[in-house]
Amino acid sequence: MKVKKAVFPVAGLGIRFLPVTKAQPKEMLPLVDKPMIQYAVEEAIAAGIFEFVMVTGRDKRAIEDHFDHSFELEEMLKAKGKTDLLAEVEKISAKGDFIYIRQKKPLGLGHAVLCAKPIVCNEPFAVFLPDEIVQGPSPEIGHLLKIFEEKQCSVIALMKSPREELSRYGIIKPKGDIASGVFEIEDLVEKPSPQEAPSDLAIDGRYILTPEIFACLEQSEAGAGGELQLTDGIRKLLQKQKVYGCVLQGNRLDAGEKLGFLQANITLALEREDLKEDLKKFLKELKI
Ligand code: G1P
Repeated sequence: MKVKKAVFPVAGLGIRFLPVTKAQPKEMLPLVDKPMIQYAVEEAIAAGIFEFVMVTGRDKRAIEDHFDHSFELEEMLKAKGKTDLLAEVEKISAKGDFIYIRQKKPLGLGHAVLCAKPIVCNEPFAVFLPDEIVQGPSPEIGHLLKIFEEKQCSVIALMKSPREELSRYGIIKPKGDIASGVFEIEDLVEKPSPQEAPSDLAIDGRYILTPEIFACLEQSEAGAGGELQLTDGIRKLLQKQKVYGCVLQGNRLDAGEKLGFLQANITLALEREDLKEDLKKFLKELKI
């Protein structure tokens, strides 16, 4: 079974970023000059996934427009001879098919993934939480895909997290030795207290899931925060199939909260040839 589709849960209200997200999607906030969501889409493309299922909500039309052709803009750039910009803009809509389905109620990440069931049907699929950017020489989801191809089981990206931050994440309990970085998962729990956390391995925003997850989510009840949690669905999946964890290889930027968003912008800008020297100079001049 090959993974062809990637699901992006993008229906959230962006509460952490208010007021900027009052009338625009959080996923369209810029990291340097690209909206946040484009990084995750490019990661999927780099790993050979070209069908994108966006689970959206109200006020998310800008995402749809961003990944579509913009005839007037492209004609204008052509007429003005701005070929570099034209290529950049055309690239966004050139690859892949974008499919949109609405999450009608904000019932949680598990519910958002379940909303993709009529499109994904009986295939394995990837899930990207697009607040998280993972930098590295090769696409992070590609590492998970390799493990999936070998094991034909669900695979979750994991990261080591400081104890005081464990309650922000889903935390797994590994089975056996974790030294190789790829191991079976014995159990997992969403947002445990640091005392209850079964390890310091937190679920990151990249998953490969088998389609059996849908039935498991349908059977799950609301969990942490009163929401249907993807973690709880995967916990049920463990009763039927093995699930593997894979320690993140790249550098994770969490652009889903304000400080992380600013850090992600600076980190990404410092990697850009056209910006890095001037930005470094500016940061040095701050003398803080
Ligand atoms: C979600 C998942 C959680 C995971 C986290 C990664 O939580 O439910 O298991 O560790 O993403 O960022 P959220 O950030 O939506 O609260």
